[in-house]
Amino acid sequence: MNAFTYQYPVTVYFGEGTAAKNLPSELAKVGGTVMLAYGGGSIKKYGIYDELIEILKIAGKEIVEFSGIMSNPTYAKVQEGAALAREKHVDFILAVGGGSVIDCCKIISAQALLDEDIWELEYAKHGAPTAFIPMGAIVTAFGTGAEMNNGAVITNEDKMQKAALWGAFASFAALDPVYTMTMPMKQVISGSFDTLSHCMETYFGMGGANNLSDEINETIMKSVIRHIRETVKDPADKYARSELIWASAMAENGILKIGKVTDFQCHMIEHQLGAYTDCNHGQGLAVIHPVLYRHIYKSAPERFARFAKNVWGKNTAEEGVDALADFIKEIGLPTTFSEMNIPTDTDFRAIAQSTVITPGCCKRLTADEIYEILTECQ
Ligand code: NZQ
Ligand code: ZN
Repeated sequence: MNAFTYQYPVTVYFGEGTAAKNLPSELAKVGGTVMLAYGGGSIKKYGIYDELIEILKIAGKEIVEFSGIMSNPTYAKVQEGAALAREKHVDFILAVGGGSVIDCCKIISAQALLDEDIWELEYAKHGAPTAFIPMGAIVTAFGTGAEMNNGAVITNEDKMQKAALWGAFASFAALDPVYTMTMPMKQVISGSFDTLSHCMETYFGMGGANNLSDEINETIMKSVIRHIRETVKDPADKYARSELIWASAMAENGILKIGKVTDFQCHMIEHQLGAYTDCNHGQGLAVIHPVLYRHIYKSAPERFARFAKNVWGKNTAEEGVDALADFIKEIGLPTTFSEMNIPTDTDFRAIAQSTVITPGCCKRLTADEIYEILTECQ
């Protein structure tokens, strides 16, 4: 086992009615002006907005609304939120949504208290923000596990980069399965696949051959696969849904990463694809994963054979990758970029050249290999 430090700052509230039950005591700990941040309106359509407004009013908070946070949130949207937070002297940010809303708020929280541009601070000066407007997360769409960490994936349209920024941790995360029951099935499946991807990207990272993190990881991967199948069979299955929500959180709360070094290469490719096409995150991952693994599995035959045996019940490394590809098809995810309506004239060369490549897996790819992978995904 590699050396590690593990510390966890997020209080997790899980279960039906958990936001309504625990929000009042959390709000009692924070200042009087609360930014209610959300996306394109699903929370209004499905009653979550009304419920939260009522709780905020009973708590005597002044409410500053910040809406319209889009999927794949942009850096411009972060700046808009930070300006509003500054102008209204926001004391607390309540992020209500999926990964996009939560990520956007993590960076608003930091940018609002910074005198400089956070992208420049983190990418040019290699610094990190140290002050944050406190925030909490109410999860309405699961899969990314964004509520569990302080990394945020933001699309900088000027720089044509979709990349990680480091911002605030939520002080609490409320995961109520009922809030997620209205998610479109496409998002349920792509989000759940994102969870599986987080597990795989961690599992294929570097670390001791036999470590507890990987054994827990195999259990989570099997659980995600089983519960996706159950959800496809019965989208109203609340029990399966709640298992997927917790798996999503478990994949990103740092436990699986203990003792591991990872490159999250599939994510790095998909994020740049997102910068150029604004595609759905989980769907992009579903197309890229099998193609990427066919490129690298021979560099780690034992690890891929273990994945095949312990996760899919297959005999060889190759059969494991095939089983993953078959599963993607079985649950209705796209298997090519054309199924995702990604135009054939997309600048895949530019995507490959701007994809982040770091050591952290069995094979360090080159930009040319990433271009080949992207070409094979079409
Ligand atoms: O905007 P609204 O109207 O709310 O609609 C959203 C959105 O269209 C809808 N939705 C959310 N909750 C709903 C609902 N519709 C009906 N009922 C509900 N209860 O779902 C759509 C997708 O939401 P979004 O937040 O964009 O999806 P997701 O949670 O998959 O987040 C994707 C973003 O997270 C990043 C991705 O790159 C992408 O930008 N990621 C963040 C990570 C992190 N911070 O740890 C890790 C991931 O790897 C990922 O990169
Ligand atoms: Zn992801």
